[in-house]
This record gives sequence, C-alpha cells and structure tokens, in this order.
Amino acid sequence: MQNEFVLSKKSEFAELKEYIDSVKNSQGVTMQILQKAQGIFGYLPIEVQQFISDETNIPLADIYGVVTFYTQFSTEEKGKHRIGLCLGTACYVKGSQEILDKLADELDVKVGKTTKDKLFTLEATRCLGCCGLAPVMVVDEDVYGRLEVTKIPNILKKYQ
Ligand code: FES
Repeated sequence: MQNEFVLSKKSEFAELKEYIDSVKNSQGVTMQILQKAQGIFGYLPIEVQQFISDETNIPLADIYGVVTFYTQFSTEEKGKHRIGLCLGTACYVKGSQEILDKLADELDVKVGKTTKDKLFTLEATRCLGCCGLAPVMVVDEDVYGRLEVTKIPNILKKYQ
C-alpha cells in the first residue's frame, strides 16, 4: 500500500522515473540518480530510496549506504533557509559554539534539525574557508563574519 508521502508526490515520482529510465542502462549512475532525486524532492526520505531501489534493482541497503555516507545527501527535509555555523578551529576559538547555542535557542531547534515551521535548518559546518572573518555563519548564500551573539536575533529577522 502506498503511504501518504508517495501519494502526495506522484508527479515528482513520475519525473524521477523518467530520469531513471533515461540513465539506468549506463554504469555507475547511482550518484547521479540520487542527486537528481534530491533535486526533485529536496531530500531523500526512505520512500524515495525504496523507489530508486525498485527501479534500478540496486539493493536498498546499498542506496542507504551511499545516502548516509555523503554529506551532500540528506534524509530529512530541509527548511526554506539553511544556516551553517562554522565550528572549524579558527571560528571555534573565537566563540562559534556560543553562537551556535544562541541560534539553537532562538530558533528552538537542535543542531542538524529543521524548525517546526520549516523556515530554518540549523547546521554546524567545517571550515568555510574564510577564517579571517571568524566566527562565520552562512545563511543560504549570505556570509556573516565576525559574529557576536547579540547580532543573531537581527540577522534571523531578515529571513523571517
Ligand atoms: S574555521 Fe571557520 S571559516 Fe575557517
């Protein structure tokens, strides 16, 4: 029996099937299919992984292994805005943990999770490559450097 998610995403599954049919006779297309699927659904819940397994005859365990190995894939729905707070060394020594705690508190969400209203996903990241601006946070494409805890509420307001 099909569950609610599958029933509500019929056109997305049709689009994914069309893509899989166009590439499934080629070798080594698992990553491509998963990237396409994530592009269509925004994330890769178990229903999507099962569908890919059924359509490609790749065992579900193998697909699950790839999805959970690569950080580019997510099994959870992401919020409209993605916040990445750097916990790399330079940012960490300049207090990024305190900022991360403040974000979690303001948004009432755990790190790695999405707020109930689906507006934000809060993530801790490795070095973002701009240590001179430590501590650094990225919201979608916007970079915020030399952060202070007191600046967080105003920054969040821009996205609410
Ligand atoms: S350690 Fe944070 S940007 Fe490099």
